[in-house]
Amino acid sequence: MRFDIVTLFPEIFDAVTRHGVTARACQRGLWQMHAWNPREVTTDAHRTVDDRPYGGGPGMVMLADPLIKSVQRARAARAEAGALQAAPVILLSPTGRRFEQSMARDLASSEGAILICGRYEGVDQRFIDACVTDEWSLGDFVLSGGEIGALAIVDATVRLLPGALNHGQSAVQDSFDAALSGMLDCPHYTRPEVYEGQAVPAPLLSGHHAQIARWRREQSLRITAQRRPDLIAAARAAGTLSAQDERFLAERGLAPTED
Ligand SMILES: C[S@@+](CC[C@H](N)C(=O)[O-])C[C@H]1O[C@@H](n2cnc3c(N)ncnc32)[C@H](O)[C@@H]1O
Repeated sequence: MRFDIVTLFPEIFDAVTRHGVTARACQRGLWQMHAWNPREVTTDAHRTVDDRPYGGGPGMVMLADPLIKSVQRARAARAEAGALQAAPVILLSPTGRRFEQSMARDLASSEGAILICGRYEGVDQRFIDACVTDEWSLGDFVLSGGEIGALAIVDATVRLLPGALNHGQSAVQDSFDAALSGMLDCPHYTRPEVYEGQAVPAPLLSGHHAQIARWRREQSLRITAQRRPDLIAAARAAGTLSAQDERFLAERGLAPTED
């Protein structure tokens, strides 16, 4: 798996290559990352990568040419390395499709992607038309650059690679995973058993596996119904809620209505 990142700030990506799970997975050879700085392919004395917008208005727009050349460099390097040449070229943009776990899962079973980090007011549309295959957003807010979005995509994807997490089951017990019927995770507790008068819930101390699993399932159902009823509706539509789950929701008045 390989990520190529087009960015004016490659050093930001130390966050995933030097720290934590993603760095360890990198050392284990599970993935690699290459950064391409559009400034490096400019030919003018000022290494210009942006200019004022046609039509006027505030801010600057990233020039198409250095971005296109950077993608070409990334594609050539991928081809040389034997990685899939037709990797998707994903532009981080608030106008894009909202990034979610299923997209990380799809990426984790691919050979990776070329991620484009915009800055300023955004990028020249002619670059998008020429090179970009997908536009992904981190959510309904505006960041000052695409780097945080690219980091989120890399992190969410790499931790799903087999062997990335020390405990193989960790990723399949996370929120949104099929093992949880796509629902939210349950609360977690660790030592001490009582902290400032608050005790760990009794089922977790029972040593009884079925009881622990049921408690966790019910907490997942409760939290998901309260915070994300859409995920309960999706699980119901997918047929992944058991009769016992439905009874739990109905008894507590947590079952969302059909509309
Ligand atoms: C200041 S933003 C540009 C916002 C753009 N003018 C708009 O209103 O849609 C600069 C860059 O940050 C990145 N960015 C900002 N918000 C983002 C979000 N929610 N998701 C992904 N990328 C984002 C994009 O790469 C964008 O080109």
